[in-house]
Amino acid sequence: MVRLFLFRLGSLLGLFGLLVWEAFRSQNEDNFAENNNFRRHDVYSFRENTWKTTDETQELRKKHLIDYCHKRDPKELLPPHSSNEIPAYYFRNIIVDDYHKLLYCYIPKVACSNWKRVLMVMNGDAADPWSIKTADVHNRSLGFFRYLNQYSAEEIVHRLSTYYKFLFVRHPFERLVSAYRNKFIDSYNLTLFKEMYGRHIIRKYRHNPDIRSLKTGEGVSFAEFVEFINNSEPEFMDWHWKLYDMLCHPCLIYYDFIGKFENLYTEADQLLNILQANDKVQFPHNKTSRYKLPTKGLAKEYFKSLPKQTKGKLYNKYRHDFEMFGYSMEEYS
Ligand SMILES: *[C@@H]1O[C@H](CO)[C@@H](O)[C@H](O)[C@H]1NC(C)=O
Ligand SMILES: *[C@@H]1O[C@H](CO)[C@@H](O)[C@H](O)[C@H]1NC(C)=O
Ligand SMILES: *[C@@H]1O[C@H](CO)[C@@H](O)[C@H](O)[C@H]1NC(C)=O
Ligand SMILES: *[C@@H]1O[C@H](CO)[C@@H](O)[C@H](O)[C@H]1NC(C)=O
Repeated sequence: MVRLFLFRLGSLLGLFGLLVWEAFRSQNEDNFAENNNFRRHDVYSFRENTWKTTDETQELRKKHLIDYCHKRDPKELLPPHSSNEIPAYYFRNIIVDDYHKLLYCYIPKVACSNWKRVLMVMNGDAADPWSIKTADVHNRSLGFFRYLNQYSAEEIVHRLSTYYKFLFVRHPFERLVSAYRNKFIDSYNLTLFKEMYGRHIIRKYRHNPDIRSLKTGEGVSFAEFVEFINNSEPEFMDWHWKLYDMLCHPCLIYYDFIGKFENLYTEADQLLNILQANDKVQFPHNKTSRYKLPTKGLAKEYFKSLPKQTKGKLYNKYRHDFEMFGYSMEEYS
C-alpha cells in the first residue's frame, strides 16, 4: 500500500493543534481573513469577509466540536496501528476545488451526490445539477474531482490552512438506516453490494440460512445488518457506514461550515450564499427523494425492534459522531 507519511506525531499535533486553534482564535479576533488572502481571486467576486458572517448556529456547532475534540486522547485520532504519522488516505474523502479554494469532505448518505453536482456546476463541468447522472457523479475515472490525498504534503497543508472547508452530517442512526435501505432492500439492483456484504452477513449472522440467500445475499434483515456493524472494525467499515470521524477527521481538520442534513435545504442555501455561488447554482431540491427517505420516523421504526443492549452497543460504536455533532440517542431508546 502506498502511504505518504506526512508528519511525525510531534509536528502533527503541533501543526493541526495550531490549525484548529489558530483558525478558531483568529476568527474571534477578526483577523483571519486579513492574514489570508482568502478568496481574493474568486470568480464570483467574493466580497471580503463575507464568509465570516456565519451565524450563531455555526459558531455553536464548531465550539461544541472543538470542546469535545479536546477531551479526546490525541492518539485516538491516528490510525490504530501506525505509530505516529498521518497517512495520506486520511484526506481521500476531501474534494478539492482549487479554483474556488474550497474543500468539501463528502459523506455517503448525506446528500453527497447533490453537493458533487453543485461543485461540478461551479466548475463548469455541467450546466445545471439536474443534468448529471448519479453514476457519473461518483465515477472517479471521469476525473471530475481531485482529492486532497493526491497532493503533496506541503500542498495539503497549504490547502487545509487557507481554503474554505465544509461538510454535511446527519443523525448517525438515520444514516445507518438510510445505508441499509439503499444497499440491501431498495429495488434497484445492487447485486455487487449484496454479493460483497449480503452473503457474508447471512452466512455469519443468520441461523439456518437457506441455500438461495446464501448464494444471492438477498434479504438481509436490519437486525442482521446491525449485528454485522457491531462486529465490524471501524477502520475497515464500508464508507457508507464508516464513522464521520474516520471519513472527515473533524478533530484534526477545522471545518468552517458544518451543515446538517436535518436542515439540508436551508443550510445548503446558506452555504451557497456564503460562497457567493447562489446566483450560479442552486442546490437541487427535487432530486433528493432518495435521500429524504428514510425520514426520522422511519429510522425510529427500524430501531424499535432492536434490543436496548444492541442499541447501546451501536451507540458506542458511533459515539464520536454523536458527540462531535451534538446528536443524541434520546428518541431511539
Ligand atoms: C466510468 O467511466 C468510464 C469512462 O467513461 C466508463 O468506462 C465506466 O464504465 C464508468 N463506470 C461506471 C460504473 O459507470
Ligand atoms: C434485478 O436483477 C435481476 C437479475 O439480473 C432481474 O431479474 C430483476 O428484474 C432486476 N430487478 C430490478 C428491480 O431491476
Ligand atoms: C457486539 O460486539 C461485541 C464485541 O465485538 C460483542 O461482544 C457483542 O456480543 C456484540 N453484540 C451483539 C448484539 O452482536
Ligand atoms: C428540477 O427542478 C429544476 C428547476 O426547478 C428543473 O429544471 C428540473 O427539470 C427538475 N428536474 C427533475 C428531475 O424534476
